[in-house]
Amino acid sequence: VANTNVGLFADHLLVYYEGGLPHSMHPETLDTQGTYNFGGALDILCTAHYKIEPSTGNMLFYSAIGPRLTWYEADTSGTVVDSFGFDMGCPAMVHDYIVSEHLAIFLISPNQFRLDRIMEGRPGVLWDESATPNGSRFAVLDRRTHEVTWYDTGLMLAPTHFFNAHETATGIVVDLHVIARLGNPADDSDEPIDSHSWFPPAMAWRFVLDTATGTTTQHMHSGIAGEFPKINDAWLGKENRFGYFATTRDLSPLTLTDGLARHDFSTGQTVVLEGPDGLTSPSEPVFVQRRGASGENDGYLLTLWWNPATGLSELLVHEADAFTREPLARVKLPVRVPFAFHGSWAEAEVLDAAIAAQR
Ligand SMILES: [Fe+2]
Repeated sequence: VANTNVGLFADHLLVYYEGGLPHSMHPETLDTQGTYNFGGALDILCTAHYKIEPSTGNMLFYSAIGPRLTWYEADTSGTVVDSFGFDMGCPAMVHDYIVSEHLAIFLISPNQFRLDRIMEGRPGVLWDESATPNGSRFAVLDRRTHEVTWYDTGLMLAPTHFFNAHETATGIVVDLHVIARLGNPADDSDEPIDSHSWFPPAMAWRFVLDTATGTTTQHMHSGIAGEFPKINDAWLGKENRFGYFATTRDLSPLTLTDGLARHDFSTGQTVVLEGPDGLTSPSEPVFVQRRGASGENDGYLLTLWWNPATGLSELLVHEADAFTREPLARVKLPVRVPFAFHGSWAEAEVLDAAIAAQR
């Protein structure tokens, strides 16, 4: 049932979900080959939101089981070369995180993942503010020293997904989408609630963590609701200018998302593209850097859109810099790709090498 994210790593096509280990698939035939445990280093589960460090190609990832979070670094052969575990203080659901040059940054929120309740057939994703009485807290792991520093925000909110983070002379800057609540209310947790109440619209925020005082400040980046933030991954961990996301302006029961947005962190401006010819519900925008790129925004955006007239999906290719409504290309698919999963891309040479490694 792994379905949350996918990517080529160490010559394996790996499909991730946070309920277990990733599954390896044949990169050409897509045959399922079984679970992948990084040479035996992982035993139960693995985040779907791994990061690839641009300077090394190493995978930076974690597993969160109950109140325990373990962070890992695997080299490009899939061998775990570093790991460190710490206690989160509560069984927080940690769906995504972010890294900067030297740090791994987690936001621990009232959003709980309660496996014990799931085993009883009850809702297991809860919103329990009693678990974080001082509000949501950033846990910042120094990847060099394994020191963990906590920053209380004083705010009850949860991260959904992160754009990026970078370090400055005085602090840590974290850009992400946050949500006012997520999951079933802890005090009324067996009642089904509709999806827009379970997961209300998220907004893009910036948090600045002051390393001298241990305090945080924050502001909203964009007044346009959205989710699935992405950047040019070559800028992971360092200051970047552009972020992309899918908008959630409309709360229609038929659609998940309704526009493709580009946010300019230097001007504060958000531009939204509507779907051509009635296409809607764009997926997470995956940024593909152009070969020999001249700058951060020199590349393409890949999004999957839904055509309500045919019920089928299309892959759209937009130029990131021009960012015009009319895409460069539309690839019509014979199926509808379900909403809300993540995606990735790989250079043809990387895919070919993974296929060759199977022979
Ligand atoms: Fe996700």
